[in-house]
Amino acid sequence: MKKDYFQHKAENYEQDKNRVNTVGNIAKAVLKVLKLDKTMQIMDFGSGTGLLLEKIAPFVDRITAIDISSSMNKMLDDKRDNLGCELEILEIDLAKARLDQKFDGIISSMTMHHIEDIQKMFNNFHTMLNDNGVIAIADLDIEDGSFHTEDTGIFHFGFDREMFLDTAKKAGFKNLNISSACTAVRADAEYQIFILTGNK
Ligand SMILES: C[S@@+](CC[C@H](N)C(=O)[O-])C[C@H]1O[C@@H](n2cnc3c(N)ncnc32)[C@H](O)[C@@H]1O
Repeated sequence: MKKDYFQHKAENYEQDKNRVNTVGNIAKAVLKVLKLDKTMQIMDFGSGTGLLLEKIAPFVDRITAIDISSSMNKMLDDKRDNLGCELEILEIDLAKARLDQKFDGIISSMTMHHIEDIQKMFNNFHTMLNDNGVIAIADLDIEDGSFHTEDTGIFHFGFDREMFLDTAKKAGFKNLNISSACTAVRADAEYQIFILTGNK
């Protein structure tokens, strides 16, 4: 069984006001770039405690939350009754598991840097989307490694935007665009976050 890197973080995850604020701003960026409607089935990859998906839920029909961490999934499950859409939580490692479901959109916040082979993950995303399905993937620009103060299973200290976009292109995504989403502000540093959008 894979280690739950977030076991000791989950309960206090939303006590960090800077984090809540950052993911709130990512959600605003997602809502700005995606045309959502109440018929749509969305997947949130690396959903955590649901900070992103709770802002998206009122605008879609159903969200499938995918996260490997049972402690993070438990925090999300506690929010279920107050979300604005149907919620399915799948506790799987999407870097390994195969999922035969198809979605109209895939969103993700701050999870791709936990994935070793991002080409394989973009290929998976492409397979899991219906025709014209959309992606909105937010993550860190290249940083110096100081963003994470403890080991939560990090494979990338952020991404070069051109490389990230090119990886999505190689997976078959079209109409790709990458732009600044927001800044993660800490007491002693700031980190830039981008959002990549495109469609199948
Ligand atoms: C930094 S947290 C982000 C959570 C949430 N999206 C947010 O922005 O607050 C990354 C999440 O991705 C999950 N995760 C990392 N690798 C994963 C994998 N291979 N499959 C599924 N979930 C994964 C972690 O368990 C964690 O909950």
